[in-house]
Amino acid sequence: MGEILRVWGGRPLEGAVRLPSAKNSVLPILAAAVLADGPVVLRDVPDLADVRASVSILRALGLTVRRRGEDLHLLPAAVPGWQLPEAPARAMRSSVFYLAPVLHRAGRVRMPLPGGCKLGPRPIDIHLDGLCRMGAQAACGEDWLELTAPARLRGMDYTLRLPSVGATETLLMAAALAQGDTVLRNAAREPEVRDLAAFLNGCGARIEGAGSPVIRVQGKTALHGARHRPIPDRIVAATVAAAVAGCGGCVTLLGTGEDPLGPVAGVLERAGCHTDRPAPECWRVQRQDDLQGVGLVRTGVWPGFSTDAAPVVAGGLLAARGDTVLEDTVFEDRFACAEGFALLGGQVCRRGRVLAVHGPARLAGARVRACDLRGGAGLAVAALTAAGASVIEGAEYIRRGYADLAGLFRGLGAQLQAAPQG
Ligand code: EPU
Repeated sequence: MGEILRVWGGRPLEGAVRLPSAKNSVLPILAAAVLADGPVVLRDVPDLADVRASVSILRALGLTVRRRGEDLHLLPAAVPGWQLPEAPARAMRSSVFYLAPVLHRAGRVRMPLPGGCKLGPRPIDIHLDGLCRMGAQAACGEDWLELTAPARLRGMDYTLRLPSVGATETLLMAAALAQGDTVLRNAAREPEVRDLAAFLNGCGARIEGAGSPVIRVQGKTALHGARHRPIPDRIVAATVAAAVAGCGGCVTLLGTGEDPLGPVAGVLERAGCHTDRPAPECWRVQRQDDLQGVGLVRTGVWPGFSTDAAPVVAGGLLAARGDTVLEDTVFEDRFACAEGFALLGGQVCRRGRVLAVHGPARLAGARVRACDLRGGAGLAVAALTAAGASVIEGAEYIRRGYADLAGLFRGLGAQLQAAPQG
């Protein structure tokens, strides 16, 4: 259903916020739970639209899934299904994570081509190429995909064409139960890849090197269940920190792990913020000086500046004095939010993968439209910074990655309200 977010901006943010488990850890781990022969408990799982779609897929595959408070409890399927249900599988990119687990369980898998945010072309050739080298056979229609595995998948020595996060995760899941050993080279190093490996190892897999470009997996014949708390969401951390940069104030992030902001912290410090760690598992962000543009920031794979953080940081820096130029090296169409930034009064220029922000600009509330998850969150951050009332249409995109963005920022003193679009 369509949703709008009303924002009355222009107030500094104060208080503390606990980070939820990372969406991009939770989604592949939910798919990996299909591999387990025993019960799986995932702790602190946010109630995101993509988590709900994942639960629908898991139930259609025969798993029992129950939410108990913040945790999800999963029991294996008595008879494993092999067809992913149309609507939830089409609704998100993460349905691709079910290929390898369902192939292992059922010997074949059929799904519609995955959907997800439109950030430019998002092929899945590396997922498919890797699985086929392990022995799967793929057939592809105009809008569906079917894989069969006539025998158990075989381990391999494989170099990814590029360090895709999702393909690394698909191939880790495939390798965990493959016959023999697998070496993945040029693997993605993102923290969420490490977290998936930690979950699989908790289930009895033998994976070494996750978080480095070379991952070694010793294939096992079975995996048992496990309890796992996914890592905290670094993109939610970046969203809150960018909003503090834009609005001013001081916010403490709780339950953060080691370093929730990574390279985002350095960029926001250049903009006039101060970040520190007053206690373990806790980071403070405060704006100390006038907001300054930060020059060129290029996104990149981990440990680079995350592509997902680029629109939210842009939203926080719209009013800064001087220039900020964000170049996204991962996706072609990351900055569809530029139009909304301009309606809010931002002086922005978007050319292909580059978004240039020139300031200072006086931001004022406006009616804007979210076109994707992180762009929508970037618009929310910009609207929090702008004086007066804004309406963000298409706010249902934001629910894919933030269970309750309005509630989160209300807890920090901001005024926002989510409502169905009438
Ligand atoms: N790519 C290919 N072929 C493939 C796979 C990827 O060409 O087989 C390309 C993509 O088109 C893209 C680049 O490689 O240009 C990077 O894609 P990657 O596979 O690394 O991304 P992903 O697995 O689809 C995950 C996150 C994204 C995040 C990216 C990059 C999940 C569920 N999604 O996507 O998160 O932006 O990694 O870090 O883990 C979001 O949370 O809003 C989001 C989009």
